[in-house]
Parts: sequence; structure tokens; C-alpha cells
Amino acid sequence: MRNSTIIGTGFYVPPWVVTNDDLSKLMDTSDEWIRERTGIRERRWAEAGVGPADMAKIAAEQAIADAGLQPEDIQMIVFATLNPDVFFPGSGCILQSKWPVFGTIPAIDVREQCSGFIYAVAVADRFIRTEFCDNVLVIGAENHSCGLDLSNRGRDVSVIFGDGAGAVVMVPAASNGEGVFDFSLHCQGEYYDKLWLPAPAANRKPRVSYEMIDSGDIYPKMDGRAVFRHAVPRFSEAMNEVLQKTGRKIEEVDLFIPHQANERISRMVADKMGLPWEKVVSNIHKFGNTTAATIPICMCEARADGRLKKGGLLLCAAFGSGFTWGAFLMKWTI
Ligand code: ACO
Repeated sequence: MRNSTIIGTGFYVPPWVVTNDDLSKLMDTSDEWIRERTGIRERRWAEAGVGPADMAKIAAEQAIADAGLQPEDIQMIVFATLNPDVFFPGSGCILQSKWPVFGTIPAIDVREQCSGFIYAVAVADRFIRTEFCDNVLVIGAENHSCGLDLSNRGRDVSVIFGDGAGAVVMVPAASNGEGVFDFSLHCQGEYYDKLWLPAPAANRKPRVSYEMIDSGDIYPKMDGRAVFRHAVPRFSEAMNEVLQKTGRKIEEVDLFIPHQANERISRMVADKMGLPWEKVVSNIHKFGNTTAATIPICMCEARADGRLKKGGLLLCAAFGSGFTWGAFLMKWTI
């Protein structure tokens, strides 16, 4: 079967910069607390009315142009988000509605949160490998800011997340010596309520109520220590698994893009894996945790600053809500 590869990238972050000091005017927190615990200095928030599909469209336009394709060349949309524009239908459908040239191509939403982009690339890769289609638009896009509890009750979560979108175009690789080599994909659902949004919920009747609003169930809940404790070993396991499957060693990796959950997690993973920090992409200080959008945004930035080069061996890994985690290894082709 043929490999898939990435031939175009694009990203969008909203212009509204929210600093740690801005947040400390809304809740009991401080720049020092946030920087020391997470590495975050500022994040971007979307204006009211701007959804994940709106941001995705801008990122996608860049990625398609970068790939040297026209929008009508795209044959499938795979859209990763933990914050879909609406409960249903999926944000892939909503993105398609904003772009009539996409016609009736299939659109799939992937709901694997922080691991969403890894899972989305895996979905696109499988459709390309099995020759169902050639040109797939893969999106990671999040609007967290519309759903954060900005009172003291939600301060542990609300300081971490930021908005944004990243997009890549995936196509068949010219040879099996390049492009995406393999994946590691995992989920441990027993921890689903360690990082989750309890409401609205289709396992409650009605799915939304004033009681859910008053109790704060409409805001994300996180057991930060549990997330931290599981993240470091799971990141490393996924990275080792994909290296082992592809017969590569960590020393051969030119660049590592971790999901930007927390800079302390990225540094601990890099140390555990013996990766020098110079080989690790980190942008959490300026964008916070943009969840499914993080890895494609990092790809764009690493290309722009010359760290991600044609022929380089790129390792991407993520861990997050679910718990879900995974990794992929590829030889970069543009
Ligand atoms: N500002 C100031 N104080 C705060 C804040 C805040 N924003 N949030 C919590 N605190 C307080 C707590 O109330 C607590 O106070 P107490 O001791 O009086 O009870 C104190 O700070 C320490 O709280 P802890 O939760 O123990 O702090 P910790 O050192 O564990 O740091 C953090 C919290 C940053 C959330 C950490 O646990 C973490 O980074 N966990 C991983 C979370 C993560 O990466 N999530 C995203 C990954 S998954 C995904 O991307 C979807």
C-alpha cells in the first residue's frame, strides 16, 4: 500500500491577545503562577460568532494554496475538534457549507481532543493508503474561549486553553521511503472524566438545564494532577512504539512536535526520551493549549523558521482527554 504525505500547511489564530495579566483581572491567578506551572504567557481568543469552522477555513485556504492545489481538488475533509461549532452536525459539514466549491465530498469529524490531529492524520492516511481518494484536507480547530469558566471555580482549566486552527493537505507520497511511516494510537476510556465537559449531554434528560448551568457542568472539568501523571509516560510509550514499529531510533529524529499541553510535560517527555530541547517545537508560551490545532500550527511555524525541512524525520505525539494518546513518524516531503 502507498504511503501518504503532507504537501501543504496553513494556520490561523485570532488577533485578540489575552495575557496572563488580563486573566488575573477576571479571576484569582497571576502571571507568575501560570508561567511557572504551564509555560504560557498569552493565548488568543476568538471574537464572538467566530467558530472552529470559520478559523479552519482560513487555515485551509493557506494549506490548499501551499499544496499548489485548488479547493475543487480536495476529495475529503477530516476535521478534528473537541469544540464542534454545534452539537450536530459535525464541523466538517459546517466547513463544507462555507465553501460551495467542495460540492458533496465526504466530511468526517474526529473527536479525540488533544490527540485529535494524530487520529485525524491516521484517518486520512488510511483513506489514501487504500486508494479511496488522493487529496484530503485535515483540520484541527478549536474555539475554547467561548466555553471557559472565567470565575475562580474554573481557573485551573481556563488559563491553559487558547483558540486557533491548523490545516494540512495530505496526498499519496511519491514513494514508500517518505511521507507518513506509521502510527501509535491508544485510548483508555476509564479516565474519561479526568478531563471532560459534562454538559450538554445526551445521556441526561433534558440534555441541557438551568441546573447544569448553575452547577458549572457546562464548563470543562480537569483533574490536572491525574492528567499530568498519565501524560508523561503515555507520550513516551507512543513515541517508542512508533519508533519500534518503523525500526528507527530517537537519535535519528530531526524534529519532535509534541501536543502543547503544558511546557513542563513537553520538557519531561524530551528528557525521558533523551531528545535535546533544540529538537522540540514549543509555542505554548504564545498560544496556550490549542488542542487539535496545536500540531498543525507548530508544523507551520517550524517550516517558517527553517527547523522543519524536506527530508527531515518528524515525530509528532499527543496525549489528552479520553484519555487518548498517539504518535506518528514521517519523512517530511516539502
Ligand atoms: N491560578 C492560581 N492558582 C490556581 C490556579 C490558577 N489558575 N489554578 C489552580 N490554582 C490553585 C489550586 O486551587 C490549588 O490551590 P490550593 O493548594 O489552595 O488547593 C493550587 O493552585 C495548586 O493546584 P494544583 O492543581 O495542585 O496545581 P498543579 O501544580 O498541579 O498545577 C496544573 C495545576 C497546571 C493544571 C497542572 O496540574 C497541569 O499542568 N496538569 C496537566 C494539565 C494539562 O496539561 N492539561 C491539558 C492536557 S490535556 C489536553 O490538552 C486536553
